[in-house]
Amino acid sequence: MRSGLSLAIERMMRRLFRSRFLLLALTLSALVCTRTNALPNRAAVASAHPLASEAGVEILARGGNAFDAAVAVSAALGVVEPYGSGLGGGGFFLLHLASDDKDIMIDGREVAPAAARVDMYLDENGEPIPGASRDGPLAAGIPGLPAALVHLAENYGRLPLSESLQPAIRFAEQGFPAYDWHVSRLERLASGMNDSAKTVFLPDGKVPAVGSMIYQMDLAETLRSLVLEGHDGFYKGEVARKLLEGVQRDGGIWSEEDLASYKIIEREPLVGSYGDVTIVSAPPPSAGGVALINMFNMLSGYDIEDASTVTRVHLLVEIMRRAYRDRGQYLGDPDFIDMPLDMLLHPFYAVGQRANLRLDQATPSTSLPGVQPIQLAGGNQTSHFSILDMDGNIVAATQSINFSYGSKYMAAGTGVLLNNEMDDFSKKPGEPNGYQLLGSDANSIQPGKRMLSSMTPTILRSREGAAILGSPGGSQIITMVFLSGLSWIEGSDANEMAGQPRFHHQYFPDRIFFEDASLTGAERAALESMGHRLELNQRTVGNGNLQIVTWNRVTNAVQAASDPRGIGEPRYYEP
Ligand code: GLY
Repeated sequence: MRSGLSLAIERMMRRLFRSRFLLLALTLSALVCTRTNALPNRAAVASAHPLASEAGVEILARGGNAFDAAVAVSAALGVVEPYGSGLGGGGFFLLHLASDDKDIMIDGREVAPAAARVDMYLDENGEPIPGASRDGPLAAGIPGLPAALVHLAENYGRLPLSESLQPAIRFAEQGFPAYDWHVSRLERLASGMNDSAKTVFLPDGKVPAVGSMIYQMDLAETLRSLVLEGHDGFYKGEVARKLLEGVQRDGGIWSEEDLASYKIIEREPLVGSYGDVTIVSAPPPSAGGVALINMFNMLSGYDIEDASTVTRVHLLVEIMRRAYRDRGQYLGDPDFIDMPLDMLLHPFYAVGQRANLRLDQATPSTSLPGVQPIQLAGGNQTSHFSILDMDGNIVAATQSINFSYGSKYMAAGTGVLLNNEMDDFSKKPGEPNGYQLLGSDANSIQPGKRMLSSMTPTILRSREGAAILGSPGGSQIITMVFLSGLSWIEGSDANEMAGQPRFHHQYFPDRIFFEDASLTGAERAALESMGHRLELNQRTVGNGNLQIVTWNRVTNAVQAASDPRGIGEPRYYEP
Protein backbone atom coordinates (compact mmCIF):
# COMPACT_ATOMS: atom_id res chain seq x y z
CA MET A 1 0.00 0.00 0.00
CA ARG A 2 1.25 3.43 -0.89
CA SER A 3 0.78 6.20 1.58
CA GLY A 4 -1.10 9.38 0.76
CA LEU A 5 2.20 11.14 0.87
CA SER A 6 3.76 8.85 -1.74
CA LEU A 7 0.71 9.27 -4.02
CA ALA A 8 0.94 13.03 -3.69
CA ILE A 9 4.65 12.88 -4.56
CA GLU A 10 3.87 10.63 -7.56
CA ARG A 11 1.18 13.06 -8.80
CA MET A 12 3.57 15.95 -8.40
CA MET A 13 6.28 14.09 -10.31
CA ARG A 14 3.85 13.27 -13.13
CA ARG A 15 2.79 16.91 -13.40
CA LEU A 16 6.40 17.99 -13.35
CA PHE A 17 7.24 15.44 -16.06
CA ARG A 18 4.27 16.57 -18.15
CA SER A 19 5.19 20.23 -17.83
CA ARG A 20 8.82 19.43 -18.59
CA PHE A 21 7.71 17.42 -21.58
CA LEU A 22 5.52 20.30 -22.67
CA LEU A 23 8.40 22.70 -22.24
CA LEU A 24 10.69 20.42 -24.23
CA ALA A 25 8.09 20.05 -26.99
CA LEU A 26 7.59 23.81 -27.12
CA THR A 27 11.33 24.40 -27.24
CA LEU A 28 11.80 21.84 -30.01
CA SER A 29 8.97 23.22 -32.11
CA ALA A 30 10.30 26.75 -31.58
CA LEU A 31 13.70 25.57 -32.77
CA VAL A 32 12.22 23.82 -35.78
CA CYS A 33 10.28 26.99 -36.62
CA THR A 34 13.40 29.07 -36.13
CA ARG A 35 15.36 26.83 -38.46
CA THR A 36 12.85 26.39 -41.23
CA ASN A 37 11.02 29.71 -41.31
CA ALA A 38 13.52 32.26 -40.19
CA LEU A 39 15.06 34.38 -42.89
CA PRO A 40 17.57 37.19 -42.61
CA ASN A 41 15.95 40.55 -41.92
CA ARG A 42 18.17 42.18 -44.56
CA ALA A 43 20.74 41.20 -47.13
CA ALA A 44 24.38 42.16 -46.72
CA VAL A 45 27.53 42.44 -48.81
CA ALA A 46 30.97 42.91 -47.27
CA SER A 47 33.83 43.51 -49.67
CA ALA A 48 37.21 45.19 -49.84
CA HIS A 49 35.98 48.23 -51.76
CA PRO A 50 32.81 50.32 -51.20
CA LEU A 51 32.05 50.40 -54.95
CA ALA A 52 32.15 46.60 -55.10
CA SER A 53 29.81 46.29 -52.10
CA GLU A 54 27.49 48.79 -53.81
CA ALA A 55 27.60 46.75 -57.01
CA GLY A 56 26.37 43.75 -55.04
CA VAL A 57 23.51 45.68 -53.47
CA GLU A 58 22.58 47.20 -56.83
CA ILE A 59 22.13 43.71 -58.25
CA LEU A 60 20.14 42.52 -55.22
CA ALA A 61 17.88 45.54 -55.69
CA ARG A 62 17.33 44.52 -59.31
CA GLY A 63 15.98 41.18 -58.14
CA GLY A 64 19.20 39.21 -58.18
CA ASN A 65 20.08 36.65 -55.57
CA ALA A 66 23.35 36.26 -53.66
CA PHE A 67 24.90 34.47 -56.65
CA ASP A 68 24.07 37.28 -59.07
CA ALA A 69 25.42 39.73 -56.51
CA ALA A 70 28.60 37.62 -56.28
CA VAL A 71 29.13 37.95 -60.04
CA ALA A 72 28.73 41.72 -59.72
CA VAL A 73 31.02 42.06 -56.69
CA SER A 74 33.69 39.76 -58.09
CA ALA A 75 33.86 41.57 -61.43
CA ALA A 76 33.71 44.99 -59.77
CA LEU A 77 36.61 44.12 -57.47
CA GLY A 78 38.63 43.20 -60.55
CA VAL A 79 38.07 46.73 -61.83
CA VAL A 80 38.43 48.86 -58.69
CA GLU A 81 41.03 46.70 -56.93
CA PRO A 82 43.15 45.85 -59.98
CA TYR A 83 46.13 44.92 -57.82
CA GLY A 84 44.21 42.18 -55.99
CA SER A 85 42.11 40.08 -58.33
CA GLY A 86 40.37 40.12 -61.67
CA LEU A 87 39.57 38.33 -64.91
CA GLY A 88 43.24 37.40 -65.30
CA GLY A 89 43.18 35.36 -62.10
CA GLY A 90 41.11 32.79 -60.28
CA GLY A 91 39.15 32.13 -57.13
CA PHE A 92 37.03 29.89 -54.96
CA PHE A 93 33.31 30.54 -54.53
CA LEU A 94 31.78 28.75 -51.56
CA LEU A 95 27.99 28.75 -51.98
CA HIS A 96 25.12 27.85 -49.70
CA LEU A 97 21.93 27.17 -51.64
CA ALA A 98 19.15 27.85 -49.17
CA SER A 99 16.39 26.13 -51.17
CA ASP A 100 18.32 22.82 -51.25
CA ASP A 101 20.14 23.34 -47.94
CA LYS A 102 23.28 22.48 -49.87
CA ASP A 103 26.87 23.75 -49.91
CA ILE A 104 28.99 23.76 -53.07
CA MET A 105 32.38 25.15 -53.95
CA ILE A 106 33.10 26.48 -57.41
CA ASP A 107 36.80 25.96 -58.02
CA GLY A 108 37.89 28.62 -60.49
CA ARG A 109 41.57 28.23 -59.67
CA GLU A 110 44.13 28.83 -62.41
CA VAL A 111 45.79 25.80 -64.03
CA ALA A 112 49.33 25.30 -65.29
CA PRO A 113 49.54 25.43 -69.09
CA ALA A 114 50.18 22.18 -70.97
CA ALA A 115 53.75 23.22 -71.75
CA ALA A 116 54.57 23.76 -68.04
CA ARG A 117 57.39 21.63 -66.64
CA VAL A 118 58.36 20.73 -63.11
CA ASP A 119 61.69 22.58 -63.41
CA MET A 120 60.54 25.50 -65.56
CA TYR A 121 61.63 28.11 -63.01
CA LEU A 122 65.04 26.54 -62.22
CA ASP A 123 68.39 27.36 -63.82
CA GLU A 124 70.88 24.79 -65.12
CA ASN A 125 72.16 24.27 -61.57
CA GLY A 126 68.66 23.50 -60.34
CA GLU A 127 68.37 26.82 -58.53
CA PRO A 128 65.23 29.01 -58.75
CA ILE A 129 65.64 31.84 -61.28
CA PRO A 130 64.82 35.06 -59.43
CA GLY A 131 61.51 36.56 -60.57
CA ALA A 132 60.80 33.85 -63.15
CA SER A 133 57.62 32.63 -61.44
CA ARG A 134 56.56 36.18 -60.51
CA ASP A 135 57.07 38.54 -63.44
CA GLY A 136 55.66 38.49 -66.95
CA PRO A 137 53.41 36.04 -68.76
CA LEU A 138 55.52 32.97 -67.97
CA ALA A 139 54.34 33.41 -64.35
CA ALA A 140 50.66 33.21 -65.28
CA GLY A 141 48.39 30.22 -64.92
CA ILE A 142 45.36 29.88 -67.19
CA PRO A 143 42.75 32.16 -65.58
CA GLY A 144 39.66 30.66 -63.98
CA LEU A 145 37.69 33.68 -62.80
CA PRO A 146 35.87 34.41 -66.08
CA ALA A 147 34.69 30.80 -66.27
CA ALA A 148 33.58 30.88 -62.63
CA LEU A 149 31.52 34.05 -63.16
CA VAL A 150 29.76 32.63 -66.21
CA HIS A 151 29.11 29.33 -64.41
CA LEU A 152 27.76 31.10 -61.35
CA ALA A 153 25.41 33.26 -63.40
CA GLU A 154 24.21 30.46 -65.68
CA ASN A 155 23.68 27.84 -62.99
CA TYR A 156 22.77 29.70 -59.81
CA GLY A 157 21.84 33.29 -60.67
CA ARG A 158 18.51 34.75 -61.65
CA LEU A 159 19.81 37.55 -63.83
CA PRO A 160 21.69 37.54 -67.13
CA LEU A 161 25.33 38.63 -67.22
CA SER A 162 24.18 41.75 -69.05
CA GLU A 163 22.78 42.87 -65.68
CA SER A 164 25.19 41.37 -63.18
CA LEU A 165 28.29 42.57 -65.05
CA GLN A 166 26.81 45.99 -65.65
CA PRO A 167 28.30 47.72 -62.56
CA ALA A 168 31.80 46.43 -63.38
CA ILE A 169 31.49 47.62 -66.99
CA ARG A 170 30.34 51.00 -65.70
CA PHE A 171 33.29 51.33 -63.27
CA ALA A 172 35.69 50.35 -66.06
CA GLU A 173 34.23 52.80 -68.61
CA GLN A 174 33.31 55.72 -66.39
CA GLY A 175 36.34 55.23 -64.17
CA PHE A 176 36.91 54.92 -60.45
CA PRO A 177 38.82 57.40 -58.32
CA ALA A 178 42.40 56.39 -57.51
CA TYR A 179 42.85 55.87 -53.78
CA ASP A 180 45.76 55.63 -51.35
CA TRP A 181 46.17 51.85 -51.38
CA HIS A 182 46.02 51.76 -55.15
CA VAL A 183 48.44 54.65 -55.61
CA SER A 184 50.99 53.50 -53.04
CA ARG A 185 51.18 50.10 -54.69
CA LEU A 186 51.63 51.74 -58.08
CA GLU A 187 54.49 53.83 -56.70
CA ARG A 188 56.29 50.66 -55.68
CA LEU A 189 55.41 48.40 -58.57
CA ALA A 190 54.46 50.27 -61.73
CA SER A 191 58.01 50.30 -63.07
CA GLY A 192 57.79 46.52 -63.44
CA MET A 193 54.63 46.65 -65.57
CA ASN A 194 54.61 46.05 -69.30
CA ASP A 195 53.60 48.87 -71.63
CA SER A 196 49.94 47.90 -71.94
CA ALA A 197 49.52 47.85 -68.18
CA LYS A 198 51.37 51.16 -67.82
CA THR A 199 49.08 52.77 -70.39
CA VAL A 200 46.10 51.94 -68.18
CA PHE A 201 47.54 52.46 -64.72
CA LEU A 202 49.93 55.32 -65.40
CA PRO A 203 47.79 57.75 -67.40
CA ASP A 204 50.02 60.58 -68.70
CA GLY A 205 52.98 58.33 -67.94
CA LYS A 206 52.95 58.86 -64.18
CA VAL A 207 51.38 57.51 -61.04
CA PRO A 208 47.94 59.14 -60.80
CA ALA A 209 47.06 61.46 -57.94
CA VAL A 210 44.62 60.23 -55.33
CA GLY A 211 41.14 61.11 -56.52
CA SER A 212 41.92 61.16 -60.24
CA MET A 213 39.89 58.81 -62.38
CA ILE A 214 41.23 55.49 -63.70
CA TYR A 215 39.57 54.30 -66.92
CA GLN A 216 39.82 50.74 -68.26
CA MET A 217 38.16 50.77 -71.69
CA ASP A 218 39.68 47.51 -72.95
CA LEU A 219 38.62 45.73 -69.77
CA ALA A 220 35.07 47.02 -70.30
CA GLU A 221 35.13 45.47 -73.78
CA THR A 222 36.39 42.14 -72.41
CA LEU A 223 33.59 42.15 -69.83
CA ARG A 224 31.14 42.87 -72.68
CA SER A 225 32.53 39.91 -74.54
CA LEU A 226 31.58 37.72 -71.54
CA VAL A 227 28.09 39.23 -71.63
CA LEU A 228 27.68 38.50 -75.33
CA GLU A 229 29.36 35.12 -75.63
CA GLY A 230 29.54 33.72 -72.10
CA HIS A 231 32.48 31.38 -71.39
CA ASP A 232 33.71 31.51 -74.99
CA GLY A 233 33.82 35.29 -74.77
CA PHE A 234 37.07 34.94 -72.83
CA TYR A 235 38.44 31.51 -73.70
CA LYS A 236 37.83 31.56 -77.47
CA GLY A 237 37.47 34.20 -80.15
CA GLU A 238 38.88 37.70 -80.15
CA VAL A 239 39.80 38.03 -76.46
CA ALA A 240 41.58 34.66 -76.48
CA ARG A 241 43.39 35.62 -79.67
CA LYS A 242 44.69 38.85 -78.13
CA LEU A 243 45.70 37.09 -74.91
CA LEU A 244 47.64 34.44 -76.82
CA GLU A 245 49.26 36.94 -79.14
CA GLY A 246 50.68 38.90 -76.22
CA VAL A 247 51.58 35.98 -73.98
CA GLN A 248 53.36 34.03 -76.72
CA ARG A 249 55.23 37.07 -78.01
CA ASP A 250 56.46 38.05 -74.54
CA GLY A 251 57.80 34.76 -73.27
CA GLY A 252 54.72 32.91 -72.01
CA ILE A 253 53.78 29.32 -72.90
CA TRP A 254 49.98 29.42 -73.16
CA SER A 255 48.36 27.66 -76.12
CA GLU A 256 44.96 28.01 -77.76
CA GLU A 257 44.07 24.61 -76.34
CA ASP A 258 44.99 25.72 -72.79
CA LEU A 259 42.41 28.47 -72.97
CA ALA A 260 39.78 26.49 -74.86
CA SER A 261 39.95 23.57 -72.42
CA TYR A 262 39.74 25.53 -69.15
CA LYS A 263 36.88 24.29 -66.95
CA ILE A 264 35.71 25.22 -63.50
CA ILE A 265 35.17 22.29 -61.14
CA GLU A 266 32.33 22.02 -58.64
CA ARG A 267 33.71 20.46 -55.48
CA GLU A 268 32.17 19.36 -52.23
CA PRO A 269 33.26 21.69 -49.46
CA LEU A 270 34.99 20.23 -46.43
CA VAL A 271 32.88 19.98 -43.30
CA GLY A 272 34.12 19.79 -39.72
CA SER A 273 32.86 20.77 -36.32
CA TYR A 274 33.88 22.51 -33.13
CA GLY A 275 31.41 21.98 -30.31
CA ASP A 276 28.01 22.62 -31.85
CA VAL A 277 29.45 24.76 -34.65
CA THR A 278 29.71 23.32 -38.16
CA ILE A 279 32.68 24.51 -40.19
CA VAL A 280 32.21 24.54 -43.98
CA SER A 281 35.31 25.52 -45.90
CA ALA A 282 37.32 25.22 -49.09
CA PRO A 283 38.64 21.77 -50.08
CA PRO A 284 41.89 21.21 -52.01
CA PRO A 285 43.37 22.67 -54.14
CA SER A 286 42.91 25.06 -51.27
CA ALA A 287 44.76 24.11 -48.15
CA GLY A 288 42.44 26.36 -46.18
CA GLY A 289 39.66 24.01 -45.18
CA VAL A 290 41.94 21.13 -44.22
CA ALA A 291 44.14 23.29 -42.00
CA LEU A 292 41.18 25.17 -40.52
CA ILE A 293 39.27 22.04 -39.55
CA ASN A 294 42.42 20.38 -38.27
CA MET A 295 43.19 23.40 -36.08
CA PHE A 296 39.68 23.38 -34.60
CA ASN A 297 40.01 19.61 -34.03
CA MET A 298 43.24 20.16 -32.09
CA LEU A 299 41.71 23.04 -30.13
CA SER A 300 38.74 20.97 -29.08
CA GLY A 301 41.00 19.05 -26.68
CA TYR A 302 41.55 22.14 -24.53
CA ASP A 303 39.48 24.48 -22.43
CA ILE A 304 40.76 27.95 -23.26
CA GLU A 305 37.91 29.93 -21.80
CA ASP A 306 39.82 31.03 -18.73
CA ALA A 307 43.33 30.80 -20.15
CA SER A 308 45.66 33.80 -19.78
CA THR A 309 46.60 35.64 -23.00
CA VAL A 310 50.05 34.04 -22.92
CA THR A 311 48.70 30.50 -22.56
CA ARG A 312 46.05 31.15 -25.18
CA VAL A 313 48.50 32.56 -27.74
CA HIS A 314 51.00 29.80 -27.01
CA LEU A 315 48.38 27.10 -27.48
CA LEU A 316 46.94 28.60 -30.67
CA VAL A 317 50.45 29.06 -32.08
CA GLU A 318 51.36 25.44 -31.37
CA ILE A 319 48.15 24.37 -33.10
CA MET A 320 48.95 26.58 -36.12
CA ARG A 321 52.49 25.17 -36.25
CA ARG A 322 51.20 21.60 -36.46
CA ALA A 323 48.51 22.29 -39.03
CA TYR A 324 50.89 24.21 -41.31
CA ARG A 325 53.47 21.43 -41.13
CA ASP A 326 50.97 19.03 -42.63
CA ARG A 327 49.61 21.52 -45.08
CA GLY A 328 52.65 21.66 -47.29
CA GLN A 329 53.58 18.04 -46.80
CA TYR A 330 50.39 16.48 -48.07
CA LEU A 331 48.30 18.97 -50.01
CA GLY A 332 47.98 19.84 -53.67
CA ASP A 333 45.57 19.43 -56.58
CA PRO A 334 43.19 16.54 -55.75
CA ASP A 335 42.97 15.63 -59.42
CA PHE A 336 46.70 14.90 -59.47
CA ILE A 337 47.67 13.52 -56.08
CA ASP A 338 46.24 11.29 -53.38
CA MET A 339 45.87 13.07 -50.08
CA PRO A 340 45.16 11.47 -46.71
CA LEU A 341 42.23 13.82 -46.11
CA ASP A 342 40.29 11.34 -43.96
CA MET A 343 43.27 11.16 -41.66
CA LEU A 344 44.02 14.89 -41.59
CA LEU A 345 40.41 15.80 -40.88
CA HIS A 346 39.77 13.11 -38.27
CA PRO A 347 39.50 14.17 -34.61
CA PHE A 348 41.64 11.15 -33.64
CA TYR A 349 44.47 12.53 -35.75
CA ALA A 350 44.27 15.73 -33.72
CA VAL A 351 44.60 13.66 -30.55
CA GLY A 352 47.97 12.46 -31.86
CA GLN A 353 48.99 16.01 -32.76
CA ARG A 354 48.21 17.12 -29.22
CA ALA A 355 50.37 14.39 -27.73
CA ASN A 356 53.65 16.30 -27.96
CA LEU A 357 52.14 19.73 -27.37
CA ARG A 358 53.36 21.14 -24.07
CA LEU A 359 51.50 23.98 -22.45
CA ASP A 360 54.63 25.40 -20.82
CA GLN A 361 57.07 25.26 -23.71
CA ALA A 362 57.30 25.94 -27.45
CA THR A 363 57.88 22.94 -29.71
CA PRO A 364 60.72 23.76 -32.12
CA SER A 365 59.41 23.17 -35.64
CA THR A 366 62.55 21.18 -36.42
CA SER A 367 61.63 18.70 -33.68
CA LEU A 368 58.31 17.75 -35.22
CA PRO A 369 58.56 14.27 -36.64
CA GLY A 370 58.78 12.86 -40.09
CA VAL A 371 57.84 15.64 -42.43
CA GLN A 372 59.82 17.13 -45.28
CA PRO A 373 59.77 20.92 -45.48
CA ILE A 374 56.89 22.29 -47.44
CA GLN A 375 55.67 25.29 -49.35
CA LEU A 376 52.62 27.34 -48.66
CA ALA A 377 50.97 29.49 -51.25
CA GLY A 378 50.63 32.97 -51.65
CA GLY A 379 50.34 36.50 -52.61
CA ASN A 380 48.62 38.81 -50.18
CA GLN A 381 46.85 40.91 -52.77
CA THR A 382 43.95 38.56 -52.94
CA SER A 383 40.41 39.79 -52.16
CA HIS A 384 37.53 38.26 -50.25
CA PHE A 385 33.82 39.09 -50.14
CA SER A 386 30.89 37.70 -48.19
CA ILE A 387 27.22 37.89 -49.18
CA LEU A 388 23.94 36.86 -47.56
CA ASP A 389 20.66 37.44 -49.38
CA MET A 390 17.20 37.56 -47.84
CA ASP A 391 16.43 33.98 -48.84
CA GLY A 392 19.40 32.78 -46.80
CA ASN A 393 21.63 32.11 -49.83
CA ILE A 394 25.28 32.62 -49.01
CA VAL A 395 28.46 33.30 -50.95
CA ALA A 396 31.91 33.33 -49.38
CA ALA A 397 34.38 33.99 -52.17
CA THR A 398 38.11 34.59 -52.24
CA GLN A 399 39.78 35.52 -55.51
CA SER A 400 43.28 36.45 -56.52
CA ILE A 401 45.89 37.32 -59.09
CA ASN A 402 48.47 36.50 -56.38
CA PHE A 403 50.99 39.28 -55.73
CA SER A 404 50.17 42.99 -56.24
CA TYR A 405 49.13 43.49 -59.88
CA GLY A 406 49.89 39.79 -60.47
CA SER A 407 52.55 39.24 -63.11
CA LYS A 408 52.25 42.96 -63.95
CA TYR A 409 51.58 41.87 -67.50
CA MET A 410 48.57 42.93 -69.55
CA ALA A 411 47.98 41.51 -73.01
CA ALA A 412 47.45 44.43 -75.40
CA GLY A 413 43.82 45.21 -76.16
CA THR A 414 42.35 43.05 -73.36
CA GLY A 415 42.66 45.20 -70.23
CA VAL A 416 43.30 41.92 -68.41
CA LEU A 417 46.15 41.91 -65.92
CA LEU A 418 47.50 38.36 -65.74
CA ASN A 419 48.08 36.52 -62.48
CA ASN A 420 51.42 35.23 -61.21
CA GLU A 421 49.79 32.30 -59.50
CA MET A 422 52.42 29.86 -60.86
CA ASP A 423 54.47 31.07 -57.88
CA ASP A 424 52.04 29.20 -55.65
CA PHE A 425 53.44 25.92 -56.95
CA SER A 426 56.43 24.44 -55.22
CA LYS A 427 59.12 25.29 -57.76
CA LYS A 428 61.79 23.38 -55.90
CA PRO A 429 60.78 21.16 -53.00
CA GLY A 430 62.26 22.46 -49.77
CA GLU A 431 62.86 25.93 -51.21
CA PRO A 432 60.79 28.74 -49.64
CA ASN A 433 58.57 30.79 -51.96
CA GLY A 434 57.90 34.53 -51.79
CA TYR A 435 56.20 34.08 -48.43
CA GLN A 436 58.97 31.94 -46.95
CA LEU A 437 56.72 28.94 -47.30
CA LEU A 438 58.27 25.62 -48.06
CA GLY A 439 56.97 23.13 -50.59
CA SER A 440 56.84 19.42 -51.33
CA ASP A 441 56.26 17.22 -54.38
CA ALA A 442 52.52 17.21 -53.69
CA ASN A 443 52.43 20.75 -55.04
CA SER A 444 55.03 20.42 -57.80
CA ILE A 445 54.33 21.85 -61.26
CA GLN A 446 52.55 19.62 -63.78
CA PRO A 447 50.67 20.51 -66.96
CA GLY A 448 46.99 21.11 -66.23
CA LYS A 449 47.49 21.05 -62.46
CA ARG A 450 46.00 23.61 -60.07
CA MET A 451 48.48 25.23 -57.69
CA LEU A 452 47.90 24.89 -53.96
CA SER A 453 46.18 27.89 -52.42
CA SER A 454 45.68 29.34 -48.96
CA MET A 455 42.36 30.98 -49.84
CA THR A 456 39.87 30.00 -47.16
CA PRO A 457 36.31 31.14 -47.87
CA THR A 458 34.38 29.77 -44.91
CA ILE A 459 30.87 29.46 -43.48
CA LEU A 460 30.40 28.71 -39.78
CA ARG A 461 26.97 27.53 -38.71
CA SER A 462 25.38 26.83 -35.38
CA ARG A 463 21.78 26.43 -34.33
CA GLU A 464 21.73 30.10 -33.42
CA GLY A 465 23.48 31.64 -36.37
CA ALA A 466 25.97 31.74 -39.18
CA ALA A 467 29.16 33.61 -39.98
CA ILE A 468 30.50 34.08 -43.51
CA LEU A 469 34.14 35.05 -43.67
CA GLY A 470 37.47 35.08 -45.46
CA SER A 471 40.45 37.30 -46.18
CA PRO A 472 43.45 37.92 -48.38
CA GLY A 473 46.84 37.53 -46.75
CA GLY A 474 48.76 34.75 -48.50
CA SER A 475 50.03 32.22 -46.03
CA GLN A 476 48.34 34.09 -43.17
CA ILE A 477 44.82 33.72 -44.55
CA ILE A 478 44.11 30.45 -42.78
CA THR A 479 45.16 31.62 -39.33
CA MET A 480 43.19 34.85 -39.76
CA VAL A 481 40.05 32.88 -40.54
CA PHE A 482 40.83 30.56 -37.60
CA LEU A 483 41.23 33.40 -35.08
CA SER A 484 38.28 35.34 -36.43
CA GLY A 485 36.04 32.26 -36.53
CA LEU A 486 37.05 31.35 -32.99
CA SER A 487 36.16 34.83 -31.79
CA TRP A 488 32.67 34.46 -33.34
CA ILE A 489 32.24 31.15 -31.57
CA GLU A 490 33.27 32.89 -28.34
CA GLY A 491 30.63 35.59 -28.83
CA SER A 492 32.26 38.36 -30.87
CA ASP A 493 30.17 40.32 -33.35
CA ALA A 494 31.24 40.95 -36.95
CA ASN A 495 33.14 44.16 -36.15
CA GLU A 496 35.05 42.53 -33.32
CA MET A 497 35.84 39.53 -35.52
CA ALA A 498 37.33 41.77 -38.19
CA GLY A 499 39.16 44.15 -35.90
CA GLN A 500 40.80 41.92 -33.32
CA PRO A 501 44.62 42.04 -33.30
CA ARG A 502 46.12 38.97 -34.94
CA PHE A 503 49.12 36.69 -34.73
CA HIS A 504 50.33 33.90 -36.96
CA HIS A 505 52.66 30.90 -37.10
CA GLN A 506 53.26 28.80 -40.20
CA TYR A 507 55.74 26.15 -39.02
CA PHE A 508 58.53 27.63 -41.09
CA PRO A 509 60.01 30.11 -40.36
CA ASP A 510 59.70 29.12 -36.71
CA ARG A 511 58.40 32.49 -35.56
CA ILE A 512 55.26 34.10 -34.21
CA PHE A 513 54.32 36.98 -36.51
CA PHE A 514 52.22 39.37 -34.46
CA GLU A 515 50.45 42.67 -34.78
CA ASP A 516 51.60 45.23 -32.26
CA ALA A 517 48.27 45.40 -30.47
CA SER A 518 48.00 41.64 -30.05
CA LEU A 519 50.60 41.32 -27.26
CA THR A 520 51.90 43.53 -24.46
CA GLY A 521 55.63 43.74 -23.77
CA ALA A 522 55.23 41.45 -20.76
CA GLU A 523 53.30 38.91 -22.84
CA ARG A 524 55.99 38.96 -25.54
CA ALA A 525 58.65 38.37 -22.89
CA ALA A 526 56.66 35.50 -21.40
CA LEU A 527 56.27 33.84 -24.80
CA GLU A 528 59.98 34.25 -25.49
CA SER A 529 60.80 32.63 -22.17
CA MET A 530 58.77 29.62 -23.35
CA GLY A 531 61.05 29.31 -26.38
CA HIS A 532 59.07 31.26 -28.99
CA ARG A 533 60.71 33.68 -31.37
CA LEU A 534 58.61 36.70 -32.21
CA GLU A 535 58.54 39.05 -35.17
CA LEU A 536 56.38 42.12 -35.59
CA ASN A 537 54.16 41.69 -38.64
CA GLN A 538 55.38 44.53 -40.79
CA ARG A 539 53.72 43.90 -44.07
CA THR A 540 53.55 47.14 -45.96
CA VAL A 541 50.16 46.25 -47.36
CA GLY A 542 48.38 45.35 -44.16
CA ASN A 543 47.82 42.14 -42.34
CA GLY A 544 44.79 40.82 -44.12
CA ASN A 545 41.43 42.27 -45.00
CA LEU A 546 38.62 40.20 -43.52
CA GLN A 547 35.13 40.65 -44.95
CA ILE A 548 32.42 39.24 -42.71
CA VAL A 549 28.66 38.80 -42.61
CA THR A 550 26.95 37.31 -39.57
CA TRP A 551 23.35 36.20 -39.23
CA ASN A 552 21.71 35.65 -35.88
CA ARG A 553 19.09 33.01 -36.64
CA VAL A 554 17.19 33.63 -33.42
CA THR A 555 16.63 37.36 -33.95
CA ASN A 556 17.27 37.22 -37.74
CA ALA A 557 19.60 40.19 -37.33
CA VAL A 558 22.30 40.53 -39.96
CA GLN A 559 25.57 42.36 -39.37
CA ALA A 560 28.40 42.91 -41.83
CA ALA A 561 31.90 44.20 -41.27
CA SER A 562 34.94 45.08 -43.33
CA ASP A 563 38.39 44.83 -41.80
CA PRO A 564 39.42 48.21 -40.34
CA ARG A 565 42.89 47.55 -41.81
CA GLY A 566 41.47 48.03 -45.32
CA ILE A 567 39.23 50.50 -47.12
CA GLY A 568 36.27 48.16 -47.60
CA GLU A 569 32.79 49.00 -46.38
CA PRO A 570 29.83 46.67 -46.09
CA ARG A 571 26.45 47.52 -47.55
CA TYR A 572 22.97 46.28 -46.68
CA TYR A 573 19.88 45.77 -48.77
CA GLU A 574 16.35 45.90 -47.40
CA PRO A 575 13.56 46.21 -49.96
N1 GLY B 1 47.46 33.38 -54.33
C1 GLY B 1 46.99 33.32 -53.02
C2 GLY B 1 46.53 31.97 -52.64
O1 GLY B 1 45.98 31.30 -53.46
O2 GLY B 1 46.70 31.55 -51.54
